[in-house]
Amino acid sequence: MTTNSTLFQRTKVRVTDTVQATVPVDRVIQSVALTLKAKRLAGMMKALRFEERPIPDPADVPLEEIDVSNPFMNRQGQWYPYFARLREEAPVHYQPKSPFGPFWSVTRYADIQAVDSNAEVFSAEPYIVLGPPPFNAEMFIAMDPPKHDVQRRAVQGVVAPKNLKEMESLIRERVQDVLDNLPTDRPFDWVERVSKEITGRMLATLLDFPFEERHKLTYWSDTISGSADATGGTTHQDELFPAAVDLARNFTALWHDKAARRAAGEPDGFDLITLMQTSEDTKDLIKKPFEFLGNLTLLIVGGNDTTRNSMSGGVLALNRFPDEFEKLKADPKLIPNMVSEIIRWQTPLAYMRRVAKKDVHFGGQFIRKGDVVLMWYASGNRDERKFENADDFIIDRKNARNHMSFGFGVHRCMGNRLAEMQLRILWEELLERFDRIDVIGEPGYVQSNFVKGYSDMQVQLTPKP
Ligand code: HEM
Repeated sequence: MTTNSTLFQRTKVRVTDTVQATVPVDRVIQSVALTLKAKRLAGMMKALRFEERPIPDPADVPLEEIDVSNPFMNRQGQWYPYFARLREEAPVHYQPKSPFGPFWSVTRYADIQAVDSNAEVFSAEPYIVLGPPPFNAEMFIAMDPPKHDVQRRAVQGVVAPKNLKEMESLIRERVQDVLDNLPTDRPFDWVERVSKEITGRMLATLLDFPFEERHKLTYWSDTISGSADATGGTTHQDELFPAAVDLARNFTALWHDKAARRAAGEPDGFDLITLMQTSEDTKDLIKKPFEFLGNLTLLIVGGNDTTRNSMSGGVLALNRFPDEFEKLKADPKLIPNMVSEIIRWQTPLAYMRRVAKKDVHFGGQFIRKGDVVLMWYASGNRDERKFENADDFIIDRKNARNHMSFGFGVHRCMGNRLAEMQLRILWEELLERFDRIDVIGEPGYVQSNFVKGYSDMQVQLTPKP
């Protein structure tokens, strides 16, 4: 595998040698700079900053003032009580003046499913987070059909069953390696040592990205998805530009390096870049830098926080519901169902955003053309109308697979099988090795209204006798 620095040197040589190779990456970088500047000038970049204050009990807040976009909701354990009130009293709720502007919240399972399945009325464009994202690479998650369908088709082979089978043994080896190197004599941070590490390795596998540089993938993804303006996170513009430029340069270098290796006779791999280079539809994607970058960024951002927080969430859930861990140890065949239950209970992405394409009556409300509508999967997954004892973590729950964490309709998560496979492998390998996995103290929670996850979680392992 080539190191990134050599990738860079090779690209530099090409950049001076051929005009064509320089154009895409330079255009991307210029465009990122221009987009950021234009947004700042247009006042779209408000440079939001959030200060944490105690969130009052939902019963003490007038219904019309409820704002579930507060990025500290999850950290303060308040999302679920607020959602419970909204589901009961205002299942399609309007918040007129959040820091991100006005928006509707849809909080019941059946309503969310109805919105998500209706791309005719509810558009995923121009973006799927509450506030404007840092820069607008073209991502099919934020496109409506028919353009969406063409772009999705171009890359979905990377997670086709045959490809996943090819990847499984490599992913298992990498998981085993991570687990075999964990300390058992003292607590350690599960998020850093396990969840982030395994996810980073998976993304490197998916892209055939230089393994020793895999932390960059995690860094870019965290920086982009942690934007304060977009999701109430902690990343600000001064960090975004260098990250976006670095990402553009690295992915362009990766493409050229891969092409050179293939030209030199290296056999085709099963990674995304090879797939793009060998498909008629996408072999020239490098000449369309925004689509090229958008597709790759979507895969790293889509597969990063989500899988990572499911890996941490599963451990926390089994600590909160210790009888379930005993059930699991007695019957490891429950792992696949438990994986679905972990993804339901955790709901790694709290919502997706839509914009009404026309005036519509929905759930007893009048939603106007252009209104922003958030589908709160985090709430739908705890809706008692769909899930009995919805707040409980039950590894043999009958309808766990009906969770809505992967969405519905044309945008239903493309990586869902890959995510499930990773979690299944992780739990198979964990059960082989450990008798107890104890969370010590309270985990840290990510500041965000979009990513529902953990910043750190101290864990003590007890090996099997
Ligand atoms: C789309 C969640 C893992 C790639 C989505 C959507 C959600 C989601 C909610 C949007 C659905 C909608 O709008 O209806 C999750 C969760 C995961 C996960 C909870 C893990 C537990 C992954 C992984 C990948 C990935 C590992 C990488 C291969 C994508 C892509 C899309 C997507 C490319 C866009 C699909 C489209 O617009 O057609 N995901 N995801 N996801 N996800 Fe995932």
